[in-house]
Amino acid sequence: QDGLATLARAAGIAFGTAVDSGKLAGDPAYAAQVTAEAQLLVPEWEAKWAALQPKEGSFDLGPLGAVAGFAQGSGKQLRGHALVWHDAMPDWLTAALAEGPARARAVLTAHLDAVLPATRPAIRDWDVVNEAVADAEGNPFAAKPVAVGDLRDSPWLRALGPSYVDLTFRLARERDRTLRLTYNEYGLEGDSPWAEEKRRRTLRLLRRLLEAQVPVDALGLQAHLLLDEPFRPEPLAAFLASVREMGLSILVTELDVREGSQLAGDLAARDMAVAERVRGVVGTALEAGCRTVLTWGLSDKESWLARDPDVTRKDGETHRGLPLDGEGKRKPMWNALAACF
Ligand code: XIL
Repeated sequence: QDGLATLARAAGIAFGTAVDSGKLAGDPAYAAQVTAEAQLLVPEWEAKWAALQPKEGSFDLGPLGAVAGFAQGSGKQLRGHALVWHDAMPDWLTAALAEGPARARAVLTAHLDAVLPATRPAIRDWDVVNEAVADAEGNPFAAKPVAVGDLRDSPWLRALGPSYVDLTFRLARERDRTLRLTYNEYGLEGDSPWAEEKRRRTLRLLRRLLEAQVPVDALGLQAHLLLDEPFRPEPLAAFLASVREMGLSILVTELDVREGSQLAGDLAARDMAVAERVRGVVGTALEAGCRTVLTWGLSDKESWLARDPDVTRKDGETHRGLPLDGEGKRKPMWNALAACF
């Protein structure tokens, strides 16, 4: 049977996934899964700052180049992730930013000057700024609720103030006029007071940027969904309508589902709950005009949800939040995506 990419393409939708350069090269079953299911790839690690510039001025484009080579060899497209983020920063960068705004502007400019020309023409769409908006107070799922205005605390914010967002988009556009520039954010999908507040903050940021003629083209919904958070389509649909009214495109960039702690042994029930949530969120995004959907990996075995202590289940079980199970078998989430397309 056709993979998700083929089904999506028939409906004018690009489907893709996050990938790992080491596994693409060293694990044929993994590479075959990616080839069969995805049309669009995004490196899960290889385009983050710590990967690209581990030491100041010494760039390592090898692993990203390997992903780009795989994409080219198999006829896939590539997204970039992420030019500025408060995480995956090498220590030297954190230290440099603490030296003040002039130094911060210089290192940012040098990074973009090295990375954007080197990744052209393979990457035509970058997550330019990732996760700048602060989580609302009281959000039990928030890692860092600290905020300065609407923005989260970060070395970039401390060095440059809120205008670090403006600066990064402007520099990216100056260096590549035809690149699609995406603002990428999590926690926007649910029906909860903190999601509502995060949507308000994100809309305020995007409005401010567009009023200042900052070149932002698209909003990426990470869609790291949480079954413990309620969902109804209406609040998400209203938010996405406002985003579209601003002239922005919408992407789903990092879809996966964290199960609720209440779901333990019953695999069928867990898989149905995951599928239903995916259908609700992706269906709402597609209705709002989203034409790009990426999952954050394809199989539960490879997922960060199985290995990152911030997000793993705490009861010894492994999340079943991706389209394929540990053996690579298609789950109800796969069918939910197929049905959405
Ligand atoms: C995660 C990766 O999946 C992990 O392997 C890594 O250790 C940390 O980052 N939002 C993002 C992604 O934008 O870059 C994150 O990826 C997941 C949350």
